[in-house]
Amino acid sequence: MLLRDVLLLDSSMESALACDLAISGSVIDSILPPRSAEGPADFDGKGAVAVLPGFVNAHAHAAMTLLRGLGEEAPLMEWLRERIWPVEARLTPEQVFWGTRLALLEMVSSGVTCFADMYFFMDQVAEASLQAGVRCALSRGLVGADEGKIQEGVDLIRRYHNLSGLISVQLGPHAIYTVPPEAFREICRTAKDSGVGIHTHWLETEWEAEYIRQQLKKDPVDLLAEVGLHEVPFAILAHGVWFPEDRVRDLAKTRLSVVHNPNSNLKLGSGIAPLPSFLEANVRVALGTDGAASNNRLDVWDEMRTCSLLHKGIRRDPSIVRALEVLRMATVDGARALGFENVGLLKPGWQADLVLVDLQKPHYVGTTPENLCASLVYSGSSADVAGTIVAGEWLYREGVHLKLEEETILRKAAACRKELLQE
Ligand code: NI
Repeated sequence: MLLRDVLLLDSSMESALACDLAISGSVIDSILPPRSAEGPADFDGKGAVAVLPGFVNAHAHAAMTLLRGLGEEAPLMEWLRERIWPVEARLTPEQVFWGTRLALLEMVSSGVTCFADMYFFMDQVAEASLQAGVRCALSRGLVGADEGKIQEGVDLIRRYHNLSGLISVQLGPHAIYTVPPEAFREICRTAKDSGVGIHTHWLETEWEAEYIRQQLKKDPVDLLAEVGLHEVPFAILAHGVWFPEDRVRDLAKTRLSVVHNPNSNLKLGSGIAPLPSFLEANVRVALGTDGAASNNRLDVWDEMRTCSLLHKGIRRDPSIVRALEVLRMATVDGARALGFENVGLLKPGWQADLVLVDLQKPHYVGTTPENLCASLVYSGSSADVAGTIVAGEWLYREGVHLKLEEETILRKAAACRKELLQE
């Protein structure tokens, strides 16, 4: 496959590069001077289309699209206990399948090529992602100390881990306030023995930080080691909002990554994570949307813009959380956080997971190769996505989904929601 005359940009480049991009199978083959490649092109950007690594949504609960709008404006613990959990207890495998496909429609059209999902009925999530051709890190959300559920997580590893190169599986203890420390430790031991990572929520709310200190009588940072999170191959810590500033350095040079979910944290009134401190300490940070019931979008562009602006305002410093750092969080560092190798940069031999962005829009007049990154982060939006490619395969092109039947999904998902909420 050949993409002719496009502007290439990844987070290792200070300036975009005009080029022809050749893809062979699932990987980037070569990067050539613009209009120099021989043979017919699959796509001609005419110098006005940017090609970036696809976005990684590193923390999601995709099928929560069916719960979007539920318990609006309630704080997290009330929102979970009174509005979300009772409905989730009624979810069926079929509903999770269609809810996930609904999420995939939204993610693929906004340039997401890879996502981390923690939910239930993960076989349905795996099948939905495979059919859509989207790269995915799956974990069965584990609550309580139920051995049977841990076994479900282990079965998921056996069935789907590394399947077709698109899927990886983690074990997913929901959080330290829903999984007792001893069970959490057991899950980490199982992950270590199985050679897989962990995906969990950590320090999302002040209530959780207090729960750890008062009820568990532990320090929330020391507890990471006590439950075994430093011993697993890697761990995805969603949120980290209440991570103490003076302990941020403890996360540097570890196999732990924090997923920053600024819009979900703002909407639930949970607080604002110390992102500048994480970045200063070289802690790996990825970006996530969280579920559609707490965001309510599944749009990584929106997370990029929010996080880039939010922290500048709080610190009163426009030089922090730079556009290039934000792009790194949304792409290669997201892929690394999820344990995917050779994903997230535009280099020969790396996976051809790409998002194409149409620069023929009013808000891109004046955009140059030198300012393209800032232009995308501060001016761009998911409405500019002209194409999405995963592992060398087109999933979305000029407004049309090629692997998802949009009309059927909208109809089925609406019916599932109606049934679920008894609306
Ligand atoms: Ni979450």
